[in-house]
Amino acid sequence: MAKRTIVTMPGDGIGKAVLSECIRVLNAIGFEANYVNGDIGWEFWCKEGNPLPERTIKLLEEHKIGLFGAITSKPKDKATAELAPELKDKGFIYYSPIVTMRQKFGLDICMRPCQTLVGNPLNFVRRTANGGVDEPVVDCMIFRQNTEGLYGGVEWTNPGDKVYDALMTHPRFKENFAWCPRPELAVSTRIVTKKYSTRIIKAAFEYAKKRGFDKITLCEKPNVIRETSGMMLKIAQEMSKSEYPNIRVEDVNIDAMMMWLTKNPENYHVIVSENMFGDIVSDAFAGLIGGLGFATSAQFNPESGVAVFEPTHGSAPKYADYKVSIVNPIAMILSAVLMLEHLNEMEFANRIRKAVADVVAEGKVRAYDMLKMKGTPDVINQGAASTKQMTDAIIEKL
Ligand code: NAI
Ligand code: MG
Repeated sequence: MAKRTIVTMPGDGIGKAVLSECIRVLNAIGFEANYVNGDIGWEFWCKEGNPLPERTIKLLEEHKIGLFGAITSKPKDKATAELAPELKDKGFIYYSPIVTMRQKFGLDICMRPCQTLVGNPLNFVRRTANGGVDEPVVDCMIFRQNTEGLYGGVEWTNPGDKVYDALMTHPRFKENFAWCPRPELAVSTRIVTKKYSTRIIKAAFEYAKKRGFDKITLCEKPNVIRETSGMMLKIAQEMSKSEYPNIRVEDVNIDAMMMWLTKNPENYHVIVSENMFGDIVSDAFAGLIGGLGFATSAQFNPESGVAVFEPTHGSAPKYADYKVSIVNPIAMILSAVLMLEHLNEMEFANRIRKAVADVVAEGKVRAYDMLKMKGTPDVINQGAASTKQMTDAIIEKL
C-alpha cells in the first residue's frame, strides 16, 4: 500500500514543540507516513498578509489529513500593526486561520473527547456525603457543530439600511431595541441549518450506538433560544424516534449543564451542541480531566474526508522561547491518536493511548502542569519533566 501523507501544521509558539514530539511518537510506533509541512500562523500573516497561505490549502485538499499544533491570533488592529511594512495599507485583513480552515473545508463535525486518565493529579474530585473524597470517572464525547451558530461570522456594528430595516420587521426588535442609535448597535447572528444540525446530531447518535450508550444529551437552551436551539431539539427527538429507538434525547440547558458537570460528570457520555455552546461545554469538561495539557479535538467533513486533528490549547507564547520546552505534549499526542482512530489504525491508536495512560498512572514523569507548578524555566530543576522527557517516557512504554 502506498504510504499515506499527513499535512503537519505546527503553527506558532508551543505548537512547534508539541507537534515535533508527537511525530517522534508516531515514528517510534512504526506508523508509516510521509509528512509534508503546511505553513500556517502568525509568521505568514506578517510576511505574506495571509496566515493560511493558498499552498497549505492545496496540501490539505490533496492529502486530506492534517495534524495541527497551535497558532497565535491577535485582534485586528494589532494584526495590522505587525504586518510587514511593504504590505501595510494594501487592504489585508486578519482572520483566524483556524476559523478560515473550518469554513473553507466545511469541517462541520468537531469531536472533543474528555476522558479521565487514572492517576492524573489534575482530575476532578468531589466530597462525598461522609466527608471523603470521590474521583468520578469522566468519559464524555462532546459533538460541537463547528461551522455555524454564533461563530458563523454573520455580524454587524452599525448595520446598513437593508439589515436594519429587516431587523425592524421583528416585533421584538422594534419594541426593545429601536431606541438605540444605529452606530451604537452591534448584532451577531446565530444561524443554524437543518442540514448541518442533522449531521452533527447523527454523528452523536452513531457514536452513542457504537459505544452502547442509551442517551445523547442535547446541550442547548430551547426554552429561550426557541428557533435555533428549538430546531436542534426537534431534529434530535425525531431522529431518536425514527432511527435510534433505543437511544433517548436528554434536553439539558447549557447553563444548567455548567452546574451538573461538576456535580455528576459521570452521567454524561455523549453531548451535542451548537458551535459556541459546544466550545463552552467542551472547555468546561476538559477542566475535569486536567485542562489544556490533555484536551484534544478532531474536526472533519464527512463528505470530502478532510480531517484535522489538534490539541485545543493555544500557542502559549510565554513558553514559546524557552530553551527547554516545558509544556505538556499529551494533548497533542492524544490528538494524533484521534487521527489514527480516524484512519482505522486501531492497533497503533490503542498502544499509544495505553502508553500515555501508563505514564500518567505511574506518576514518575510529570510535566509542570501535572505538578501544579507555575510555569517557569526553573520547573525542570524542581522535578518537572520537559516536553521531551514526557515524550520519552511515553515512547519507552510503547
Ligand atoms: P493558551 O492555550 O495558549 O495558553 C493558556 C495557558 O494554558 C498557558 O499559559 C499555559 O499555562 C497553559 N497551557 C497551554 N497549553 C499547555 C500545555 N500543552 N501544557 C501545559 N500548559 C499549557 O491560550 P491563551 O494564552 O489564551 O492564548 C495564547 C495564544 O494562542 C493566543 O494568540 C490565542 O489566540 C491562541 N490560541 C490558539 C488556539 C489554537 O491554535 N487552537 C486556541 C486557543 C488560543
Ligand atoms: Mg475554546
